Amino acid sequence: MKADTVGAGPRDEGRRAEAGPHMAVSGVGLELAVADESELQAAAGALGRYLAPGDCIALSGPLGAGKTTFTRGLAAALGVDPGVVTSPTFALLHHYHGRLPLCHADTYRLDDPAELWELGLADCLAERQAVVVIEWAERLRESLPPERLDVTITWPRPAASQALPAGRVLQAVGRGRRGQELVEAWRQALGLGLAAGGRADARAGP
Ligand SMILES: Nc1ncnc2c1ncn2[C@@H]1O[C@H](COP(=O)(O)OP(=O)(O)O)[C@@H](O)[C@H]1O
Ligand SMILES: [Mg+2]
Repeated sequence: MKADTVGAGPRDEGRRAEAGPHMAVSGVGLELAVADESELQAAAGALGRYLAPGDCIALSGPLGAGKTTFTRGLAAALGVDPGVVTSPTFALLHHYHGRLPLCHADTYRLDDPAELWELGLADCLAERQAVVVIEWAERLRESLPPERLDVTITWPRPAASQALPAGRVLQAVGRGRRGQELVEAWRQALGLGLAAGGRADARAGP
């Protein structure tokens, strides 16, 4: 797993600190390259251990990028059997019960993604009893809660052939204070250490 932290915008460019193959700087973001599905789930699990009721993870990325796979990794860390986690295609909102409750929503099938609010997402967010994960969260845009962690999953480069590569790139941006806390916790869980003063222990592994 290779991890970089990314800044919030152009102003952060000058604060980047090069350190071997990995970089870590203070900022509100994290960029992580994973080689395959098990690494993606492990990365999600590293985040999942820090999640608390009321946290919201907003997942974006194209079909097949790995949003549901990521949710399985989170679920496992929350004590939910990852085997039962599927795309909420028909119910649109799934509730799982592990060490913490998990509310898993998907806007993909909805013509009007805001319908998800009436289908129970608003209650899940307001009650703050569960961790809330939303797939295709970009479709909800400004109606997303201001305190959240945005995670975008993409391929590292356009596929050269029909066969899709196993590698993925995860970009996380913490929104609000809790979102930034989650980025920091995730960064530490991945072995990146604290980004004190703009520099950090930039090793992402041994
Ligand atoms: N590194 C990877 N991370 C996640 N999924 C991967 C990876 N490599 C291959 N895959 C495959 O890609 C598909 C991702 O599907 P899914 O998680 O349902 O995507 P989404 O929810 O974003 O549409 C699965 O078939 C999975 O086996
Ligand atoms: Mg999905």
